[in-house]
Amino acid sequence: MDKMKSICLIGFMGSGKTTLGKALADELSVNFFDTDEEIVKWRNMDIPGIFESEGEKNFREYESEVFKRLPVNDAVIATGGGIIESRNNREWLKQHLMTVYLKTSFKEIQRRLSFEQNRPLWNQEMNEKKRLYESRQRLYEECANQIIHTDEKTIEELLRSVQNSI
Ligand code: S3P
Repeated sequence: MDKMKSICLIGFMGSGKTTLGKALADELSVNFFDTDEEIVKWRNMDIPGIFESEGEKNFREYESEVFKRLPVNDAVIATGGGIIESRNNREWLKQHLMTVYLKTSFKEIQRRLSFEQNRPLWNQEMNEKKRLYESRQRLYEECANQIIHTDEKTIEELLRSVQNSI
């Protein structure tokens, strides 16, 4: 069978990359990978622990490293929301992967993450969260082969949208 480029889901925290990624991998009968999960397994520490003891800069290095090791064919990959902060990762997304941006409004993200405790960058002042959200929009768009709006969509609708685009 012909190889398929791996489908890589990008988007802000809370956009549903992991949930949709697992369902999509199931549907396509391919392996699923999540960069956060790979980092946790490799470093044997949870994400807040890494941010606290080693800082964001080291976290970003681990993230870029695990990302490049994931298969570029026949897999679904969910990424951390900050994967696009690195120019090199953005080039990788564009060159090697079928990149789908799950676009979610800030309001909806606030609703979904209202009880969130495990995401260090969500655990800061509202202005900072908004600034981060705004600053990343053009980076997600720059890398995306496909943009899918997720507000008010069910997982089944999102699955169908991605499948129609591949
Ligand atoms: C981050 C998003 C998180 C995780 C880390 C940093 C970010 O992943 O990688 O907390 O910079 O947006 P999710 O997007 O899966 O929440």
